[in-house]
Amino acid sequence: MSFRIQPAAPARPNRCQLFGPGSNSKLFAKMAVSEADVINLDLEDSVSPSDKDAARANVIEAINTVDWGQKTLSVRINGLDTPYWYRDVVDLLEQSGARLDQIMIPKAGCAGDIYAVDALVTAIEAAMGREKRIDFEVIIESAAGIAHVEEIAAASPRLVAMSLGAADFAASMGMQTTGIGGTQEDYFMLREGQKYWSDPWHWAQTAIVAACRTHGLLPVDGPFGDFSDDDGFRAQSLRSATLGMVGKWAIHPKQIALANEVFTPSEEKVAEAREILAAMEEAKRTGAGAAVYKGRLVDIASIKQAEVIVTQAELIAGT
Ligand code: COA
Ligand code: MG
Repeated sequence: MSFRIQPAAPARPNRCQLFGPGSNSKLFAKMAVSEADVINLDLEDSVSPSDKDAARANVIEAINTVDWGQKTLSVRINGLDTPYWYRDVVDLLEQSGARLDQIMIPKAGCAGDIYAVDALVTAIEAAMGREKRIDFEVIIESAAGIAHVEEIAAASPRLVAMSLGAADFAASMGMQTTGIGGTQEDYFMLREGQKYWSDPWHWAQTAIVAACRTHGLLPVDGPFGDFSDDDGFRAQSLRSATLGMVGKWAIHPKQIALANEVFTPSEEKVAEAREILAAMEEAKRTGAGAAVYKGRLVDIASIKQAEVIVTQAELIAGT
């Protein structure tokens, strides 16, 4: 066990990040009144190259004029391999007011990518006298991104969250898939002629969660493309929540309620966690380090597990 205390991730709800193309300004007011905790206005892959300038202007205007309430407001800039990203950063930081909370950096491949954006943002913040620090979130969606996930998570004190981008990740890895997240038809084990589907995203998700927890970032599951498949979305979200992720993207408004439902700990889970904490309080009073709860062992580690659930529920209830 390291003597270093694991840093806490930002204490704010991040159950659902709702995306909308910056080129589709008709969506902004609807996004603002949605139940999503985080809004991501997109300048990247949902905007065609011919619309990049108009989308940037739309997004800046929306940051400055739409009432975004208590939501975390984030803009996804273009990747560092494009000619657009520096103009995204310069115009956003020079022309948008203090309401902007975060910049999302897509396709992060190494710590240097984050450093480059950090240097530019730091200079513009100073030049413009911006008082509120712009935070960063990143998407891990390439082979390089997952190979360097830990150094990316450690790359800047501005970093608050990290998402898995399943589609670009799959393409970069050379995976033979076309679905954006969820069950993949050909990824199964066979036993006695019966197929048992497995989870091809599991390793990347777990690597992201470990990097995030080591450096105090929120781990988030990215998009689920088939927005007609509620059960598939729910199943993917349940797996992500079980692995330690705090939320998921919505690429259509109908996914918001599903994400909020899964990433809000259920009343039963919270009640059980509180009972475990009570059982351990009782054990402590009698000088024991372990106790029996419903026929199973609970000990000091169980306190920490139960606290994860109770703390998350309290955080969400407080909003
Ligand atoms: N945010 C808020 N509202 C949205 C929305 C979004 N992302 N996407 C759709 N809506 C609204 C529509 O305007 C429509 O509203 P109305 O009932 O007032 O007319 C309603 O939700 C139903 O929309 P629907 O007709 O089912 O979808 P669509 O065909 O208009 O749009 C998409 C489908 C996928 C193109 C659209 O949801 C979208 O652009 N999603 C985000 C894509 C994105 O940002 N990708 C980048 C991250 S991967
Ligand atoms: Mg992507």
